[in-house]
Order: sequence, then structure tokens, then C-alpha cells
Amino acid sequence: MPPPLLTVQNLVKDFGEFRAVDGVSFALERGEILGLLGPNGAGKTTVMNMLLGLISASSGRIEIFGQSLESHRIEILRRMNFSSAYTSLPGNLLVRQNLAVFAMLYGIRDWRSRVRETMERFGVAALADRITGHLSAGEATRVNLCKAFLNRPELLLLDEPTASLDPDVVDKVRTLIRDTQRESGTSIIYTSHNMQDIELVCDRVLFLHRGRVIRMGTPDEIKASFDSASLEDVFIRIARGGDLQIAGDQ
Ligand SMILES: Nc1ncnc2c1ncn2[C@@H]1O[C@H](COP(=O)(O)OP(=O)(O)OP(=O)(O)O)[C@@H](O)[C@H]1O
Ligand SMILES: [Mg+2]
Repeated sequence: MPPPLLTVQNLVKDFGEFRAVDGVSFALERGEILGLLGPNGAGKTTVMNMLLGLISASSGRIEIFGQSLESHRIEILRRMNFSSAYTSLPGNLLVRQNLAVFAMLYGIRDWRSRVRETMERFGVAALADRITGHLSAGEATRVNLCKAFLNRPELLLLDEPTASLDPDVVDKVRTLIRDTQRESGTSIIYTSHNMQDIELVCDRVLFLHRGRVIRMGTPDEIKASFDSASLEDVFIRIARGGDLQIAGDQ
């Protein structure tokens, strides 16, 4: 078995007196899509921000591509990318300017053709000359995803990529992510509050609650362990405070 692409051991993040992430451990295999689930405030974005090196962990260890994130940050981040519904590209630039800037930042040699190909794949070629800040939520999501796949990342973090999109666009974005992932073999960590999204996109799911891992497994295993027909039902039970046995204590 090859070593995991990502290993997180006993990750903790304290904001002052408040412990937002409390001893989280997991591994991500190559080509896997892992869903990070949990109620508002569970610690999902905080975990992602630590994986991106945007904030430092209070304790614990993150290894990506077999190296410590702390000591090999720059090399590791070159092989990663992210997209979030809550961060946007500079609004005053045209879409094609934004993508060109990022492609150059990633050091892509054939950046013109890479930008063109990626725009076509994500169906945003017609938006090339639009002002980024004027895009609708669905258009901006696709442009963000386009940016996220530009450097052909081996590890991609997607924080609520389908938030605030209409069901038609959600379905298209989901299919795009899944198809692009299958072709490129990119490993993905994915958060969403849409349980259908999670079931259709993710190979495995990690449930967080108050910064701790409550359950980890395939969507089917998680449903079976709660004797539940849907992930939505599992989610509601966890969010309302029942069934809070910590994974590993089982
Ligand atoms: N910079 C910060 N300073 C203080 N507290 C913070 C900070 N960032 C996050 N928190 C707190 O940490 C907890 C986890 O936040 P986080 O954003 O990781 O949750 P989340 O699981 O992503 O929630 P959501 O589903 O709402 O996006 C929350 O209680 C939040 O208020
Ligand atoms: Mg969040």
C-alpha cells in the first residue's frame, strides 16, 4: 500500500480559551474524496485553514505528500489548491485576467492554453471578458473552481463549493468536480451542508462535532452505524447532541 497522501495526527486549534479543533486525526488516500461534515461551528473550515497553512495548529502534526507541512510549506502548497464559497477572486479584474494572474503565480509554463482549456471544461469561456465582481454566485463558483484546478493540484480543498447555488447548478458543479477528479486523480477534501452532495461526491465521510471526530467511514457505513436511512437524519441526530460517542471510543 502506498503511504497516504495526507496524514493528520491529533490536530488541535485553540482560539484563546476556546478549543475549536480538539484532537482530530485522519488520513486521506490518493484519488479519494473525503467529506468533512458537521454542524455550523464544528471546526471544518478551521481544519481546512490549517491544512492550507493559513493558520497554524496549536498542536498536532500535518503531513502532506510524505512531508511535514510545517517544514515544507512552499513545496507542498504548490501541489495543492482550494476553493471556497466565502472567498472570492479580486472583483475588479476581468475573469481572464484573474485566471492568467493565478496561472502565472502557479508557474504554469503554457499558461495561456491551460487557462483556455480549463475555462472550456468549466463552461466559463463565455465569461472571459466579464468583470469578476459582477458575476452571479453560480458563475463565480465555476470561475473559482476553474482557478482551483488550474495547477492540476494533487490535493484540492473545497469548502462548501455548492453553497448558495440553485439545484441545477449544484448538479452541474457536482458532476464537473466528480468527472474532473476521475480524470486527474486529484484527492479532494470537501465540505457541504447538502447531504445529497456528500452522498454523490464523497467516497468517505468524517463527521465533526465541537471540534472532535464523531464518526468516519463510507456514507453507507455511517448510515448503518446509526441504523439510519439517510445522512441527513444522522446529521440532525449529531447536531442535536445525541449519539455523541467519539470515534475510537466505540
Ligand atoms: N479566528 C477565530 N477566532 C476565534 N474563534 C474562531 C476563529 N475562527 C473560528 N472560530 C470559532 O471556531 C469554531 C469553528 O469554526 P469553523 O469556521 O471551523 O466552523 P465550521 O465547521 O466551518 O462551521 P460552518 O459550517 O458554519 O462553516 C466556531 O465556534 C468559530 O466561531
Ligand atoms: Mg465553515
